[in-house]
Amino acid sequence: MFYKTLSGRFLLLSILFVMMAEVLIFVPSVANFRISYLQQRLEKAQIASLALLATPDDMVSPELNAELLKNAEVLNIVLRRNAVRELVLSNPIPHPVDATFDLRKVGTLDAIRDALACAFAPKDKILRVIGMPVKGAGNEIEIVLMAEPVRQAMLAYAKNVLLLSLLISAVTGLLLFLALQVLISRPISKVIASMLRFRDAPEDAHNIITPNASITELHQAEVALRELQTGLNASLRQKERLAQLGGAVSKVSHDLRNMLTTTQVLADMLDMSDDPKVKRMSPKLMNSLSRAVNLCERTLAFGKADEPEPELRDLPLKTLVEDVIDNESLQADMEKVQVISTVTGDIVVRVDPEQMFRVFTNLIRNARQAIEGTGRNGVITITARETRDGVEVCLRDTGPGLPEKAQEHLFKPFQGNARQGGTGLGLAIAAELVRGHGGRLELIETSPAGTTFRIFLSSGDK
Ligand SMILES: Nc1ncnc2c1ncn2[C@@H]1O[C@H](COP(=O)(O)OP(=O)(O)OP(=O)(O)O)[C@@H](O)[C@H]1O
Ligand SMILES: [Mg+2]
Repeated sequence: MFYKTLSGRFLLLSILFVMMAEVLIFVPSVANFRISYLQQRLEKAQIASLALLATPDDMVSPELNAELLKNAEVLNIVLRRNAVRELVLSNPIPHPVDATFDLRKVGTLDAIRDALACAFAPKDKILRVIGMPVKGAGNEIEIVLMAEPVRQAMLAYAKNVLLLSLLISAVTGLLLFLALQVLISRPISKVIASMLRFRDAPEDAHNIITPNASITELHQAEVALRELQTGLNASLRQKERLAQLGGAVSKVSHDLRNMLTTTQVLADMLDMSDDPKVKRMSPKLMNSLSRAVNLCERTLAFGKADEPEPELRDLPLKTLVEDVIDNESLQADMEKVQVISTVTGDIVVRVDPEQMFRVFTNLIRNARQAIEGTGRNGVITITARETRDGVEVCLRDTGPGLPEKAQEHLFKPFQGNARQGGTGLGLAIAAELVRGHGGRLELIETSPAGTTFRIFLSSGDK
């Protein structure tokens, strides 16, 4: 709303203040006008009465008497030249005089009060006005006149002054408004716009304000804002870098932990060695491996980041899948969980072998852990087929299905974890790695009868 803006308020306030100043001048000037008006009537009357001097007995004919009074716009005139001589022009007056004003001793407040009374006077009011004749032409002059013409003249003057005041207020207000727009409102709007741009993208250094206001105070505000934005921008970028670093560490830790778990199983086997030296070293090796696994797990509590670009190579899918199965069977009771691959040797995929190994490991390990969790036996089946667009690999298990939490936060890091000891990163990492290959990881179905994930690798990458 206009009156709520700085410029709007300034416009209204300046009009108001100019009006107030005008009122302070307006009332005394109207009162002053009335006094001047009456003074002029006295002077005119004085001139008219002087006509009597030319006559021998200070008398004129009734016609001339009436004409002189009409010209002077008064009803009666009495000019006292000295103690004995009086020049009198008189007409009969309709009713006795209502009020008398002596202009020789009128103060400002009296003048204002009389002017206000005059403004509301009845139309037929008759006034007597006494004053001093000009140029020492006598001791005192007194006129009687109707109040209405005085009132009319005074109101007309007041109206003009009022209109002029309004005009001056409006013009002053408008000029102030325009000045304020140019000097303050526009520069402030620019600062606000810059703040909003910065709020939307604080990491973009282009959005940092360039101080260019010509007003000192505003310039200081802009400089302070620039410092604030520069500091914030720098710390945001640093934070982003740290977040990326933290995320990268998380992912490395995740897969390192998987590798270490495998190594733990191998180290377990060392325990069975006949060599007493090896046997002695084995518990120490186990301890340090456990510590390393713990360290990885703790590190996994931190953020996520993009994986490096995959280094693509042509690889028979069968080999990749079998490697993963071999690796998994090292650390699991494979009598309970059977892993079957029907992938044929003719399917070749163009992938980063290390990254795709991690994808399959995560999916197969999840399925194995899910089946183991039920306490029953189960099967994991890996099938693949070539389509027009690429290769589809399906991993089906006979586990209990994805818990609700895992379904709700599918592929979201740290959130979908519903398994004790899990971090909830495996599926998120797998999905991201597949995306990095230009492919997709999808959950095809999940129910108490089992779960199926599908990896689609587009042939564009082959
Ligand atoms: N094949 C599956 N069958 C049933 N539940 C599954 C299956 N795969 C994943 N889940 C569920 O989804 C959750 C998230 O899996 P994800 O691999 O992302 O994390 P995690 O296995 O808990 O931890 P980690 O980061 O160690 O892999 C798991 O906790 C598990 O409850
Ligand atoms: Mg997992």
